[in-house]
Amino acid sequence: MKKTTKNKTVEFDQVMDNAISRRRFLRDGAIIFGASNFVMSTGIAALTSKQAIAHLDSQPLLLEFTEIATNTLDTVTVPKGFGWYTVMSWGDPLWSEGKNFDYHTAGDAKSQALSFGDNNDGMDIFTRDGRTILAVNNEYVNNLSMYHNRDSKLAENLDDVVKGKQAHGVSIVELEKKNNQYTIVKDSLYNRKITVDTPMEITGPARAHQLMKTKQDPTGTQSLGTWNNCGNGKTPWGTYLTCEENFNGYFSSSDKNLTLSKEFKRYGIKHEESKQYSWGKYDERFDIALNPTEPNRVGYVVEIDPLNPKATPKKRTALGRFKHENAEVVIAKSGHIVVYLGDDERGEYLYKFVSTGKYSKYGDNSDLLEDGNLFVAKFNDNNTGEWLALTPKSTGMSKAEICIHTRLAASKVDATTMDRPEWVAANPNKPEVYCALTNNKNRAIKPNKGGDATPINAVNPRMANKYGQIVRWMPKNREHTDIHFSWNLFALVGNPEVHKNNLKSGSKNITKHNMFNSPDGLSFDSKGGLWIQTDGKYSNKGDFAGMGNNQMLLGDPNTGEIKRFLVGPKECEITGLTWSVDKKTMFVGIQHPGEKGNSSFPGNHGHIPRSSVVAIYRKDGGTIG
Ligand code: FEO
Ligand code: CA
Ligand code: CA
Ligand code: CA
Repeated sequence: MKKTTKNKTVEFDQVMDNAISRRRFLRDGAIIFGASNFVMSTGIAALTSKQAIAHLDSQPLLLEFTEIATNTLDTVTVPKGFGWYTVMSWGDPLWSEGKNFDYHTAGDAKSQALSFGDNNDGMDIFTRDGRTILAVNNEYVNNLSMYHNRDSKLAENLDDVVKGKQAHGVSIVELEKKNNQYTIVKDSLYNRKITVDTPMEITGPARAHQLMKTKQDPTGTQSLGTWNNCGNGKTPWGTYLTCEENFNGYFSSSDKNLTLSKEFKRYGIKHEESKQYSWGKYDERFDIALNPTEPNRVGYVVEIDPLNPKATPKKRTALGRFKHENAEVVIAKSGHIVVYLGDDERGEYLYKFVSTGKYSKYGDNSDLLEDGNLFVAKFNDNNTGEWLALTPKSTGMSKAEICIHTRLAASKVDATTMDRPEWVAANPNKPEVYCALTNNKNRAIKPNKGGDATPINAVNPRMANKYGQIVRWMPKNREHTDIHFSWNLFALVGNPEVHKNNLKSGSKNITKHNMFNSPDGLSFDSKGGLWIQTDGKYSNKGDFAGMGNNQMLLGDPNTGEIKRFLVGPKECEITGLTWSVDKKTMFVGIQHPGEKGNSSFPGNHGHIPRSSVVAIYRKDGGTIG
């Protein structure tokens, strides 16, 4: 059924009560403790013995550091006792045939094909025979840096366009420690670039469907490439999941009078591209007037085997098509694989996939993501929720259509429109899952692109939400396949210095010492610490005064405490996080430093800023997460 477009108002007190004050921590579907002032601002000493046992039982944060102040410097800042260095930056060659980055030209199509891509995002570590292999997404390109040698600061010819395409996708890079620092192993047999033209196999319910067939691939089973790869996931069987997010912005139409279908409109496919990459001008695959089904072949989660450079990446259509942020994989008690998935757009939805098959520790799990069921989340104002199944019966669409036009399927059930679901992270210590709802200027202002209302409610409690919030849910019966859950807000992000005692000042665990906005990346470390990365406003003024540059913080899921650990350089976003096998090095992504031209990070040779992977270590040689 279609939701009403009338925005519902939830009283301030009720929202605060539901979302913030009543700290209901649910387990096994029952409230185990519910003191009104529990945890956000209290330490373990304030807990009753029963609460303390629950606290210890679920592994509190173990990492200790002194919180750092915010800043607007053009560097990476970490706490006392920690150090950092740059592991690799956009344009660094992965093969000895490639040239070192040329700051004057920023390279060309050939040099970029042999080098690390731009705008690194989600990443993960894989190992074999003691080797360290990093798989990293290269989400998009910064035209200002990529084409700084062109008057237009845009791609001006075919070589420029191919250079941009080669800077997108996934880079797989072997790293080794030299002089105590991780660095690229040039010419490693594992080094690989998966880009916009790499052959992919289409798997799952949409494989060979009419909507997947193109002139180039009349079978609808083999597509080319992946792009706008945002967050990631890792499977228990050792593969990498890369998530296609704003895939729409690369298509354009040579026919400016082409009628845009409701499906194109819902996914933001227009006559013009979003960032003037000019792909459609030189490659007719990206011209929707000539190839109207090509956009149906992107917007998926792609499974890659980083340890088998010859393996063809697989588009997993069973996980749905939308602006995928990341893919958080858990093994449910039942043995089914559950993948939690956010669709990062204002007023879109939060999903989960449940595999048909079950995980087997010693069996072949390689195609578990080929078949399963999709669900979309409904958050009730009373802190309960349900996963609504997207089936032919509930949507009136075929299974293939549900997987291709997932957003339209989700609009047919009574799900909750969200404030831009970004990364999802599952607590390794208990069945509890977190999602960063980054911000939503349209909340209670206008509906999503499908016309679904975006009223204020307990999980999205602020009109024109500027700051974002982090929601967490606990599946009923501690079982990730259960359709029922309970939820609460881990943090309602705000500015307690600019706003006093209202929803914009944020929850109690947001203070003048740890202020930030727009939580985006979320990852748990092996000790159960929740790392929060931001992609927000860095003006440090007005509503954002005191927040400084984008940053990374560590949250304690048990106490609610949040401490600032890292501040990034100017005009960057912090995104992507993984650890070396010995947990002594934490790899962090610095994306688009100087996106408006005001940075020279990492600043070692010239003044073009370059997205980079940096390594963080403890000076005492200890582990870090
Ligand atoms: Fe690529 Fe939603 O961040
Ligand atoms: Ca993101
Ligand atoms: Ca973001
Ligand atoms: Ca980004």
